[in-house]
Amino acid sequence: MNEHKPVLVDAVLEALAVRPAGSYLDATFGRGGHSERLLAALGQHGQLVAIDRDPDAIRAGQARFASEARLALVHGAFADMAQLVRTARPQVAAYDGILIDCGVSSPQLDTAERGFSFRLDGPLDMRMDPGAGEPVSAWLARVPYLELCHVIATLGEERFARRIAAAIVRERESAPLTRTAQLAALIERAVPLREPGKHAATRSFQALRMWVNDELGQLRSALAQAVGLLAPGGRLAVISFHSLEDAVVRDFFRDRSSIDPALASLPVVPAAAQPQLRLVGRKQRAPAAEVAANPRSRSALLRVIERIGAARS
Ligand SMILES: C[S@@+](CC[C@H](N)C(=O)[O-])C[C@H]1O[C@@H](n2cnc3c(N)ncnc32)[C@H](O)[C@@H]1O
Repeated sequence: MNEHKPVLVDAVLEALAVRPAGSYLDATFGRGGHSERLLAALGQHGQLVAIDRDPDAIRAGQARFASEARLALVHGAFADMAQLVRTARPQVAAYDGILIDCGVSSPQLDTAERGFSFRLDGPLDMRMDPGAGEPVSAWLARVPYLELCHVIATLGEERFARRIAAAIVRERESAPLTRTAQLAALIERAVPLREPGKHAATRSFQALRMWVNDELGQLRSALAQAVGLLAPGGRLAVISFHSLEDAVVRDFFRDRSSIDPALASLPVVPAAAQPQLRLVGRKQRAPAAEVAANPRSRSALLRVIERIGAARS
């Protein structure tokens, strides 16, 4: 337990084409699986900044990489990445590679007290940073029915969102919802049909987790800042785990790698309207052997983009 197997590590390392003296940013440190490989590829003058909003991830990383002077480990949300890296490594003006490996880590899912799991009973929390924002239990106690329906339907892509939201609103009138097992059992009773191989609460738990952590908002903000931090020739690699996340990445990459459509038909496209970025390769999935060894990699999707311009030597 409490370990996290990094996904698509070889593909990420290849995509980032690490320069030994380069500067890199791992925006989702987790348990440091990707960071470890980045450090192994860096020389003694290379730099790595790693961010995580989960204080447990930072603590585990500080213990594991205590003697690693090339690494700056930073607690914070990647939507604040520009500010966080400026403070952590003011001498680094631009980054040769940035990785965003979205979603939750295995230790987060497997620790009952964090409240992410419908299989383990724990407090209904689900915050990646327990020191910020409000736990799911507090939000469920006050959210209006229609808003709850909307969140479960859109972020969970749950067809029974209305039934689930109605059951939650009914239940909270008699007793507050405070435990993951309590919510999972309530959803099981509310949902009339099971998807094969899926717990009835899978979609709702995903929706609530994405909502309390503002996962899509964080991602949009991080993508825009990452592009601003890239050196010419620098690359941004993003691993997403479901269609909503991937749609954010796909659309952002497409928009930033194409000419502004409003200006594309001009006889001479102004330099300022030329794209800043170019797509690198196609989207990649984990190979079958990796999926067999790590089922979590089944839904992983890697996309890579590069800042146009001569790479630094
Ligand atoms: C899939 S895990 C990363 C695993 C990591 N690549 C490894 O190999 O161990 C995602 C991590 O990103 C963190 N995270 C998710 N969203 C974040 C955000 N908005 N800002 C900072 N960290 C975030 C989570 O706390 C979690 O530790």
